[in-house]
Amino acid sequence: MKIGFIGFGNMAQALARGLVRGGAVEADAIGACARDRAKLQRNTEPFGFRAFDASAEVAAFADVVIVAVKPYQVEAVITPIREALKTKIVVSVAAGVTFDDYERILAPGTAHLSTCPNTPVAVCEGIVALERRHSLSAEQLKAIEELFAHVGLVLAVDTPLLGMAGTICGCSPAFVAMFIEALSDAAVKHGIPRADAYRMVSQMIVGTGKLQLETGQHPGAMKDAVCSPGGTTIVGVGELEQRGFRGAVIAAIDAIDAKINGK
Ligand SMILES: NC(=O)c1ccc[n+]([C@@H]2O[C@H](COP(=O)([O-])OP(=O)(O)OC[C@H]3O[C@@H](n4cnc5c(N)ncnc54)[C@H](OP(=O)(O)O)[C@@H]3O)[C@@H](O)[C@H]2O)c1
Repeated sequence: MKIGFIGFGNMAQALARGLVRGGAVEADAIGACARDRAKLQRNTEPFGFRAFDASAEVAAFADVVIVAVKPYQVEAVITPIREALKTKIVVSVAAGVTFDDYERILAPGTAHLSTCPNTPVAVCEGIVALERRHSLSAEQLKAIEELFAHVGLVLAVDTPLLGMAGTICGCSPAFVAMFIEALSDAAVKHGIPRADAYRMVSQMIVGTGKLQLETGQHPGAMKDAVCSPGGTTIVGVGELEQRGFRGAVIAAIDAIDAKINGK
């Protein structure tokens, strides 16, 4: 299967690297185009990806065309190649551009699916939310689900929830990075070398996430499991609660949602 990216910025590069790292495809089965040819060359050549001058070349090369330009650019970029896309599987990663938009933009009968991945796909620990409404055949959908399973968790959501899935999975890496930094600062304050602190904290987050995924445990039960009566962890939990830790996280998502939906 050949994968073509129209637009090769942060998201497309993360996906391309993850697909190769996860063993989904060889690097030379990935091709891309972007606006700035020199930059595209720098982002493709060292990894063995193919660089194309135009989106029409990407469409000719690929079986699966991944639309990875900014949402407001999708229509202008896709319209000139809509005929060439009729026989391809078009997968969009553009936030907020959903089934109905592509039905309007693409030629009738084109197979298309809107998704929302997050950048940890680069290390095959991402999430790819798929819009439940799509125009792929069952066989095409299976192929795409298998492709994305190489880079992380694949999960279908209804159209109205695709945006929120994107917020939770796409924006929250910034919050987690802030948490990693904060906890590491605390570790450094108490004498742990900074490099060790980052590794320790990041692995603790990976491990806690894996434990939850594998056991399906309620997060509250996971918290209780490390809080012994009269112990030390519960003292830290109390401090976080007093400082509005959970409320602050929920308010951050509310603020993003309000901005996206112009509330
Ligand atoms: N970053 C994330 O975490 C994330 C998460 C979920 C979804 N997404 C979605 O992914 C899409 C891309 O986001 P990004 O963060 O990767 O943005 P980005 O880094 O700005 O990349 C955009 C890419 O589009 C290219 N481009 C612009 N105009 C073009 C044209 N006319 N023809 C071909 N390529 C063109 C740009 O090329 P030049 O650089 O040469 O101008 C660049 O390679 C967005 O729709 C976004 O909603 C991103």
